[in-house]
Amino acid sequence: MTDLALIARALFTPGKGVLAADESVHSATARLASYGIPTSAEMRRQYRDLFMGTEGVEQYLSGVILFSETMLEKGNDKKLFPESLAARGILPGVKVDLGTEPISTSPQELITQGLLDLPERLAEYKKQGAVFTKWRAVVRIDGDQLPTAAAIHENAKRLAQYAKEVQTAGLVPIIEPEVLLEGKHSRARSRAVIEEVLGTLFSVLEEHSVDLTSVILKTSMALSGSESGKKDTPEEVAEDTIAALMQSVPRKVAGIVFLSGGQTSDEATANLAAITRRAKEVHAPWPLTFSYARALQEEALSLWGGKEENVLAARTAFLGRLSKVSAALG
Ligand code: G3H
Repeated sequence: MTDLALIARALFTPGKGVLAADESVHSATARLASYGIPTSAEMRRQYRDLFMGTEGVEQYLSGVILFSETMLEKGNDKKLFPESLAARGILPGVKVDLGTEPISTSPQELITQGLLDLPERLAEYKKQGAVFTKWRAVVRIDGDQLPTAAAIHENAKRLAQYAKEVQTAGLVPIIEPEVLLEGKHSRARSRAVIEEVLGTLFSVLEEHSVDLTSVILKTSMALSGSESGKKDTPEEVAEDTIAALMQSVPRKVAGIVFLSGGQTSDEATANLAAITRRAKEVHAPWPLTFSYARALQEEALSLWGGKEENVLAARTAFLGRLSKVSAALG
């Protein structure tokens, strides 16, 4: 195995997964505001520390995805966040895309930015201690109209260029084509779109000679849209999610992590448990784990409310959720 493939594998240490703590300033501001917490650079630092400073997280976390701002900040332990994670055996990673903008020819769809100065930024992040990276593309479903083949292809091309640059820089790429939960679509449509997106993505990755043995796929689950009026059972989600992955993800891929995408913490936990069970039944070839943001954070954030006196209760809730999600890995 190459060194990069070994790092990728380490993120799938049994019973452990990845905390996504890589909200941009804009997303972190919106997240905190939704819990009534006013934002500032210091409040964002405390938000990061609430999770990363929790004693015992190393039992459940193999890695944390950070935002560029957080790479340079210190936790309450006075250590830089990436150093503090590494000292506890948790791999530090960083989100390297620069967000999305509408596609001029299809303004309801989004394309991800950030390739221009990527090699320079990767060299900096590596110096700061990152060993893996993430790039998120966004795929919106609207009936049979969206996503368009052109948007799927352009996002796949950028994900492949990103993955190639990241491997060249000596880091592990997480490729995340997120198929959004928002919409009226059925679970069958979600599955079909995941298959189409991943089919295109892996053929473009091959054209760009990306080494799949150190690539991690971060994917959505196959779910009925949030405005469809339908709630899927965990078994339904598991069957369609695993079927889509078996159809479109090459065996060589280092592993697959799931995003929570707006599911509640309990839904994301139950669906992950059913997915890992189904993966075993069909002998899926890749290791699987979680890479959640909202589903790991929501209980803790509602207890915290930005107040020092609530930190202990919030951290206890965070550890409780981590232990449930870890148990869902089987
Ligand atoms: O890019 C999305 C995040 O990494 C995962 O966030 O679990 O809240 O969907 P989420």
